[in-house]
Amino acid sequence: MNTKVDLESRIPNNVGLKEDRRLQRALEQWQPAFIDWWRQMGPEGFQEKDVYLRTAVSVESGGWAHFDYVKMPEYRWGIFLEPPVKGRKVGFGDHFGEPAWQEVPGEYRNPLRRIIVTQGDTEPASVEQQRMLGKTAPSLYDLRNLFQVNVEEGRHLWAMVYLLHTYFGRDGRYEAEELLARRSGDADRPRILGAFNQPIENWLDFYMFTTFTDRDGKYQLLALAESGFDPLSRTCKFMLTEEAHHMFVGETGVERVIRRTVEVMREHPDDDPRRHGVLDLPTIQKFLNLWFTLSLDLFGGEISTNAADFFANGLKGRHKEEEYDDHLALDRHYAMKVVKEGKVVEEQVPLRNAMNEVLRDAYVEDDERCVKKWNRVFEKEGMDFRLRLPSRRFHRHIGIYAGHWFDPDGHLLSEVEWEKRRGQWLPDARDRSYVQSLMTPVLEPGKVANWVAPPRVGINKHPFAWEYVRL
Ligand SMILES: [Fe+2]
Ligand SMILES: [Fe+2]
Repeated sequence: MNTKVDLESRIPNNVGLKEDRRLQRALEQWQPAFIDWWRQMGPEGFQEKDVYLRTAVSVESGGWAHFDYVKMPEYRWGIFLEPPVKGRKVGFGDHFGEPAWQEVPGEYRNPLRRIIVTQGDTEPASVEQQRMLGKTAPSLYDLRNLFQVNVEEGRHLWAMVYLLHTYFGRDGRYEAEELLARRSGDADRPRILGAFNQPIENWLDFYMFTTFTDRDGKYQLLALAESGFDPLSRTCKFMLTEEAHHMFVGETGVERVIRRTVEVMREHPDDDPRRHGVLDLPTIQKFLNLWFTLSLDLFGGEISTNAADFFANGLKGRHKEEEYDDHLALDRHYAMKVVKEGKVVEEQVPLRNAMNEVLRDAYVEDDERCVKKWNRVFEKEGMDFRLRLPSRRFHRHIGIYAGHWFDPDGHLLSEVEWEKRRGQWLPDARDRSYVQSLMTPVLEPGKVANWVAPPRVGINKHPFAWEYVRL
């Protein structure tokens, strides 16, 4: 296959689109529908502004992106796959060691389509969730970062639609249309996964979402990058390059919120930080609890025959599969904490059935590293306060802990007790309206809202006080 980069065509790509007229025509027909969706559901109020954005122009690690001012509807969304690895083999499951598939194996057509559609659905969903945030951006730098994340989620949708159009015939074209028809939070046609139907109303939501929910995306992509279906693997590998920036936006965003709060607490040690227009620490912890647990649900049930089948069939592997010593995972078990007769007890689950939990373990570990980094702000200040991840049993809606009531330490409670204390752990209406009251836009270069510290560095070596969006 031709993997030369073609930036001149209507759809920039490195998949030799020119040589496949039918596919090219099909994608060129989908393109205007995508642009319509973007104009309707993309960032509200800034479509005609020049935004300093990076655009993927190749998959070379040195110079894969190009930075310039662009109006978002004119962004060059392209299709880029990592170059194929010669002689690549299926790395796990029952087909371990067989050549990776360049076409969809007939017997796995349905599950593969479902995997791709589910991943694809999250991309436009997050753009829809975030579409009003531009109106309350705390700085031009943040505004630009929001739009950068948004256009790249748009490109990720293109990546999945490319796979659907290329490998799934009429079904794939139908699914590509459906991806533009569902709407985040819509009662009749919601997005597929729960966290992607939750409102992102303010910038604390946004920073937590990009920290925790985009990181779920990272781990799903890592697992799919292992897939025996080679085009899916190559697509996901390149998406991971862009994903790193989304988590950067979240992690540094929360860190800036903490720094600003700590600064105010130092100046006014005896006051409620809310009196000084910044976020108090319990509120930050509550938003962390919310988005961490919503994101945990995205990994699916702890004990799952679907996950076992995906692994057995070579469709979805573990994160960094090559680091495991046993790629069949046949006779091993996973020690799972389950709820039995009102108690948490350990049970041995066949490893293949626990693959969602194995991936969740890697994810939680990564989150822990992130929270540790945030806590350094308190350490440096000599404060005792620490943020922490709640137990993964807390506030779950999917899997074996759903329908049970755990506190953030993982202790079982009655539903009544849990509901009574809910407001200590999760944002309530008062918290939300306080956070909302801080959300007034600051859109002058070099200025930043009172509740968040400026970033330490700008974008692409520009200073913070740079005109990242021309208003
Ligand atoms: Fe994405
Ligand atoms: Fe993302």
